[in-house]
Amino acid sequence: MTQAIKDKLRGQAIAIDGPAASGKSTLAKGLAEHYGLVMVNSGEMYRAVTWLAIQKNLDLSDEEALLKIVDELNYTVEGYTSAIEYQGQQLTTELRLAQVNAGVSQVAALPELRAKLVEIQRNYLNKQGVQAVVMEGRDIGSVVFPDTPYKFYLKATQEVRQSRRADQGEVDVIAKRDAADSARKASPLVIADGAQVVDVSNLSIEAVRHQVIELIESV
Ligand code: DC
Repeated sequence: MTQAIKDKLRGQAIAIDGPAASGKSTLAKGLAEHYGLVMVNSGEMYRAVTWLAIQKNLDLSDEEALLKIVDELNYTVEGYTSAIEYQGQQLTTELRLAQVNAGVSQVAALPELRAKLVEIQRNYLNKQGVQAVVMEGRDIGSVVFPDTPYKFYLKATQEVRQSRRADQGEVDVIAKRDAADSARKASPLVIADGAQVVDVSNLSIEAVRHQVIELIESV
């Protein structure tokens, strides 16, 4: 990678949005490795709040209670990866439980909770040692970093996405979750202004990454 590209990306966010199981995390990880940047999976934040709320037997529509538990989680960066910790433990498999998959869209529809998590997401750029971030989610290009010139929206057929989730061994009714995420009032899943749409249905992981790297470097 040339110094010119490193300089160009400094202080910027590469935003990757798209529906469930469209390959956002895989692409974000690949780009973060390629450019030596921090990768942030914003969906994990909504998942962590959902998981913790379930642990505490909270009502997932009780926004006030959910706002309080956001501060019980730690949002960390180590090297090129970000993580979420609860009581000193990194949350991993808990975040992919069927119960979390089923409840997360309801939690993600709460506007004040979103505003609080968006602040945390933007703040990654201010963390020590962070030059730039690759962030994936649903509203990264539309709400979190609307001014970034690096916005990508991944598109894939529902069949491809559902079979990808099944291959990962997860129980996840993605059509239902996508419908809820697209229909909600607060920051619904949309193709952000200026986003480049990449149809990944028939592309390998390498081909998607290659295509997006070319697009980034042509900005
Ligand atoms: O990317 P994911 O499937 O892990 O995201 C889990 C849920 O969180 C998803 O159904 C919608 C929500 N989400 C969101 O509303 N905004 C984001 N930036 C990221 C995720």
